Amino acid sequence: MTQRLLDKVALVTGGARGIGLSVARAFAREGARVVIADINHAEAETAAAGLEGGRAMAVAVDVADAGSVQAMIDAILAAHGRVDILMNNAGVGGNTPFLETSLADWNRIVGINLTGAFLVAQACAREMVKSGGGKIVNIASLSGQRGGNGRAAYGSAKAGLELLTKVMAVELAEHDINVNNIAPGAIETEMAKFAHDQATRAAYNYLIPMTRYGTPDEIADAAVFLCSDESRYVHGHTLNVDGGFRAAGLMFKRDAGPAA
Ligand SMILES: NC(=O)c1ccc[n+]([C@@H]2O[C@H](COP(=O)([O-])OP(=O)(O)OC[C@H]3O[C@@H](n4cnc5c(N)ncnc54)[C@H](O)[C@@H]3O)[C@@H](O)[C@H]2O)c1
Repeated sequence: MTQRLLDKVALVTGGARGIGLSVARAFAREGARVVIADINHAEAETAAAGLEGGRAMAVAVDVADAGSVQAMIDAILAAHGRVDILMNNAGVGGNTPFLETSLADWNRIVGINLTGAFLVAQACAREMVKSGGGKIVNIASLSGQRGGNGRAAYGSAKAGLELLTKVMAVELAEHDINVNNIAPGAIETEMAKFAHDQATRAAYNYLIPMTRYGTPDEIADAAVFLCSDESRYVHGHTLNVDGGFRAAGLMFKRDAGPAA
């Protein structure tokens, strides 16, 4: 099998578990030198040790803290000298009604999902400018495209990230830095277990044409494409990986019989 990311230095934030871990595994299979950066360092180290090829490293980071992000970049440069790929994935869920969203909640969720993604992308892009190019994939969300219950802070942060992706694509094209966005729908991870109660799950399964949650590996497959040369003319794009949720309007089964 061809290794589409052979020897690329690939940073995956939030790579200790969930979608990030699946992406890290896929990048390692494709030959990349993977860096798993996570606030949960112990879990990140275990994850890195388990990756194919034995070339992965783990770095501790709080993406919402500028000093911590710079320390992460310094550690990667010391080990590898450059960053070729950023999977800007670290995030936290939120499921608090608008009227009950406190300022502290808002600041925490926006701080990690939007400000954190900005800090990491900017720090990586500055290095990519010096080394002559790279690939950045931000992880936004369907929740940043539609108004869903409980998603005031989370959805606003992800909508902001989708727009930030477009600005980055415009400004970074001249540096050969390719920037895109993946918007997952409902994906079966620990975050979904935390943020999706029974009512949320039922609503999703009703609204998704494919009538099921996605898997982290289905996001990882899209990430490999967007980080490989195959996607070289895809730029500033949001790739929804959502079982058709964003496309859907009226949905009913043809054999359901006439309306009463
Ligand atoms: N699961 C879904 O249904 C879904 C849907 C749309 C978007 N997303 C997005 O996908 C990404 C991954 O989600 P997941 O479901 O795998 O979540 P998860 O909770 O399973 O994993 C998130 C990882 O990010 C790390 N992390 C959290 N805060 C951090 C911080 N401040 N600094 C560094 N690392 C931090 C966690 O330790 C964890 O390892 C997130 O950005 C999330 O918003 C998920």
